[in-house]
Amino acid sequence: MDKFKIRGGKRLHGTVRISGAKNSALPAMAAALLTSEPVTLHNIPKVRDIITMSKLLAFMSARVSAHEIPAESYTIETKSMNDAVAPYELVKTMRASILTLGPAIARSGVAHVSLPGGCAIGARPVDLHLAALEKMGARIATEHGYIQASVPNGGRLKGAHIVFEKITVTGTENILMAATLAEGETILENAAREPEITDLIHLLRKMGAVIHGEDTSTLRVRGVEKLHGATHSVIPDRIEAGTFLIAGAITDGELTITDCNPGHLGALLAKLGTDGVSVERLEPSTLRVHAAKRLVGSDVTTEEYPGFATDIQAQYMALATQAEGTSVITETIFENRFLHASEMMRMGANISIDGRRAVVHGPAKLSGTTVQASDLRASAGLVLAALVAEGETLIERVYHIDRGYEAIVEKLQALGADIERLHATGS
Ligand code: EPZ
Repeated sequence: MDKFKIRGGKRLHGTVRISGAKNSALPAMAAALLTSEPVTLHNIPKVRDIITMSKLLAFMSARVSAHEIPAESYTIETKSMNDAVAPYELVKTMRASILTLGPAIARSGVAHVSLPGGCAIGARPVDLHLAALEKMGARIATEHGYIQASVPNGGRLKGAHIVFEKITVTGTENILMAATLAEGETILENAAREPEITDLIHLLRKMGAVIHGEDTSTLRVRGVEKLHGATHSVIPDRIEAGTFLIAGAITDGELTITDCNPGHLGALLAKLGTDGVSVERLEPSTLRVHAAKRLVGSDVTTEEYPGFATDIQAQYMALATQAEGTSVITETIFENRFLHASEMMRMGANISIDGRRAVVHGPAKLSGTTVQASDLRASAGLVLAALVAEGETLIERVYHIDRGYEAIVEKLQALGADIERLHATGS
C-alpha cells in the first residue's frame, strides 16, 4: 500500500486549482442511468471513487466513455438497463454505490444492490432510502446481503409524500432521482440542502425533470415518463477548497485558491475569521488565504449544510492543534469520526475525547511519526498535521485519500510542501 512521506515546516505559497466535487460527480454519474440518451459530464475529479462508479455503471450496462480513465469528462449512455445489479465487490469499496438504487429501480422497475456495510466512521444504515422507496410503491427485501427492490407488475414508482426522519444526503439524492420518473408528484420534506443536491437538481432539470424547491428542505418533483440526455459541469469541491484554506492558514503561508465557490464555504470562512485567519475574495471564484498573525482556537459543531461540514472536521482539528486556547469540536453527524484524533495525539497534539466531543488544547508542537489514515477526511487531517510537524511523518493507508482528493501530492508539492508518495513494493 502506498504511503506519504512528509517533512513538515515548509510555508506553503502559490496558487492551487480546485477540482470538481466528488460528491456531486458521483450522483451525477448515477443519474445517467435514468435515460437512454447520452449524458456528458465535465469537471469530474480524477479520483478513485469516480473510477469505481464508472466500473459500476459499466457493470449495469452503461457505456462509459472518456479519453482515458481517470478523465475530466465522461459520456455515459445507458441504452437499456439489462443488468440492474450493483455487486458486493464494487459496493464494498464505495458506499456511494447505493446511489444507483434510485435511478435503477425508477428506470427498469427492478434493482439488486449490495447492502453497503458500516465503515470506519459509523454504522451508516440506508434504512431511510429504503423506507422512502417503499412509500413510492417499491417492494423491498434484503436477502443474502442484497437489497432486492422491485415495482409490482413491472410498473412505475408512484409519487409520495416523504418526510425524512433524519437529514440524509445520498438518501435525498436517491429519492430525488427515483421521483423524476415516478407517476405523479413526490414531496420530500426534511431533505438535505447540500450544494451537491442543488447541483444534481440542475443536471436533472437539464434532462427534463420537473423539480422545485432547490436549496430548501422541501423538494417537489413532478414525475415525467422519460428523461433525455444532457451536458453538465459539476460544481467545485468545497471540501478540497476548505482543506487548502486550512493548509495555507496553518503553515504560515499565503495561498490563492482558484475555481472554487466561496458561497459554499460560508460556515468554514466564518469560523476561520473567528480564529484570526484572513481570507480575501479576489474574484468570484478565487480566494486568498493569509497566515493568521495569531491563530486562536474556537468551538465547532458539525451540522448538515449550511452548517459546519463533518467532512472538514478532521482538517479543522489539525488547525485547532496549532491555535491558542481550547477548541471544543463536537461531531453530530457520524458516531465515530474522531479516529484521526488518536493519530494526532501520537504526533504530540493535546486532545481529549469524550464521546462525540473532542477538546483540543493548543498550540502543540507536533513531531513526525508513522500514522495510519482511517478514512478519506481523516487522511486529509493527518496530511495537514504532518505539514506543520517537526521532522518526518509517514502516513500509511493513503488509498483512503486517493478516493477523494485529486493529485493531492502534486498540488501540495507545487505549493512548496515537502511531500512524496512512496509506492508500495510491487505496484
Ligand atoms: C454523504 O454521505 C457524503 N457522501 C459524505 O461524504 C458526508 O460525510 C455525508 O453525506 C454527510 O455530509 C456522499 O455524498 C457520497 P448521510 P451519506 O446519509 O449520504 C444517518 C466524504 O468524506 N443515516 O447524510 O452516506 C447516517 O448514519 C463522505 O466525502 C441513517 O440513519 O451521509 C449519518 O449518521 C464521507 N439512515 C447521518 O444519517 C439512512 O438511511 C447522515 O448521513 C441514511 C443516513
